[in-house]
Amino acid sequence: MINIAIDGPAGAGKSTIAKAVAKRLGIIYLDTGAMYRSVAYYVLKHGVSVSDEKGVQGILGGLEMDIRYEDGAQQIYVCGENVTPYLREPHMSKAASDVSALPAVRYKMVELQREFAASHDVVLDGRDIGTFVLPEANCKFYMTASPEERAERRHKELAEKGSACTFKEVLDDINKRDYNDSHRAVAPLRQADDAVYIDTTDMTPEEVIELVVRTVSEKRK
Ligand code: DC
Repeated sequence: MINIAIDGPAGAGKSTIAKAVAKRLGIIYLDTGAMYRSVAYYVLKHGVSVSDEKGVQGILGGLEMDIRYEDGAQQIYVCGENVTPYLREPHMSKAASDVSALPAVRYKMVELQREFAASHDVVLDGRDIGTFVLPEANCKFYMTASPEERAERRHKELAEKGSACTFKEVLDDINKRDYNDSHRAVAPLRQADDAVYIDTTDMTPEEVIELVVRTVSEKRK
């Protein structure tokens, strides 16, 4: 099995790179952030606060998550409903970051991710893949960029979708999520000792993809 872990903070470009690398290698891409976003969607739909640990624990047993690939794209079904179209709405980012700090949520998602990785050749992107989910992954990368660069990329992406968010709002959100994701008690965001560090601030996506594919090929030799 090939398991490639790409971790890093919000807006570092992980999903763009992970998707392209998976395509180049002819393997699957698993977006683990979308899994936490789906939990947030489920929790909010039940009228429970994403930071109410007891409330979330009370409904977590009923959460059935099914990850499918339709026309090559990942779709997440929660209790039979395809929730994928709702996951990238701006309020979902903070909700996912909050809900992902709850240990019960993490253990449930980590179990699903480990099962998935055991039966598929896959590129996974997230925060804790190389450090906690798959410490034995064949190849690990830690991808980052300056907060300003990440905010600029996210702001551009949102503006193209017609969002009226200001640059400052996006930067504040990135800084808040960085803090949240790297200060939680269970499996916080950090670079694995054996991960290849990539600062994408001054790199084009093509350069990053090339570097990752080359590193993976060298490690597999
Ligand atoms: O990658 P993303 O922005 O879609 O992730 C949304 C949130 O989910 C992120 O703020 C932290 C959390 N997350 C996590 O805790 N562990 C992962 N492996 C992936 C995401």
